[in-house]
Amino acid sequence: MGTKLTALAISRRKRSLGADPLVMLTAYDAPSARMADEAGADLILVGDSVAMVVLGHDDTMSVTVDEMAHHAAAVARTRPRAMVVADMPWMSYHVSAADTVTNAATLVRAGAQGVKLEGGSERVPMIEAIISAEVPVMGHLGLTPQSMLAQGGYRVQGRNSEAALGLVADAKALAHAGCFAIVLEGIPAAVGQMVTDAVDVPTIGIGAGGDCDGQVLVIHDVLGLETRMLPRFVRRYASMHADGVDALARFAADVRGGAFPNAAECYEMDPDEVIALGLYGHQG
Ligand code: KIV
Repeated sequence: MGTKLTALAISRRKRSLGADPLVMLTAYDAPSARMADEAGADLILVGDSVAMVVLGHDDTMSVTVDEMAHHAAAVARTRPRAMVVADMPWMSYHVSAADTVTNAATLVRAGAQGVKLEGGSERVPMIEAIISAEVPVMGHLGLTPQSMLAQGGYRVQGRNSEAALGLVADAKALAHAGCFAIVLEGIPAAVGQMVTDAVDVPTIGIGAGGDCDGQVLVIHDVLGLETRMLPRFVRRYASMHADGVDALARFAADVRGGAFPNAAECYEMDPDEVIALGLYGHQG
């Protein structure tokens, strides 16, 4: 088991201070949370990627606060050692500070120990409002999927010096506002390193190079459960979709061929009762 990880403990995990790299995985339900925790993840992110990899949407913008809370609660019920962070979905932190704090509270009441939201210095007032309600906030910069309409799709960010410096300024603003960690997604490795060096809180990269203070991947990508896309930054460690289809096809063949169930997979009845029913010879 081990000591439960907290935002404070995570906030000190800078590799430049000698810390081990942070490991974050997404999980959206109890079985995936148990797998991530047993594998030793430091953080479990109930990501809004749930919209795409579990709920069948084409993007992350359709998922609601209540849906995120439903998934966060399933993850939190497993009482993982890892810190549980839930994504604030699109439009849950864009309207007013009051709405933002209420929505963050819904995720915390569901079991999250902190929330993540996307965007740079323009989000500082909302981040400050959430933190003043005693809820830890993780930032998210670079390719921010909730901005796919504004960013013109899922495009690598920070590719020129002006944009790179903008990301550094945004990261400093988030750290200054009190974010305990910052996800960096879809930026050149050199910019991942610049941003990481510029802030005192850990950066957790996804497609942001090897110099971040940690790495995160979507669990369905790591396990090969999601096979429709293979972004460049994904490394697959299993083929669970293919293995699952193979297992289910063998089950179907056994049912159709009469090999399932066998005697050991059936419940028995007292032989006298079998005789009383005139079913002798039907058991086993
Ligand atoms: O929702 C998600 O899975 C994420 C990660 C990609 C960081 O935000």
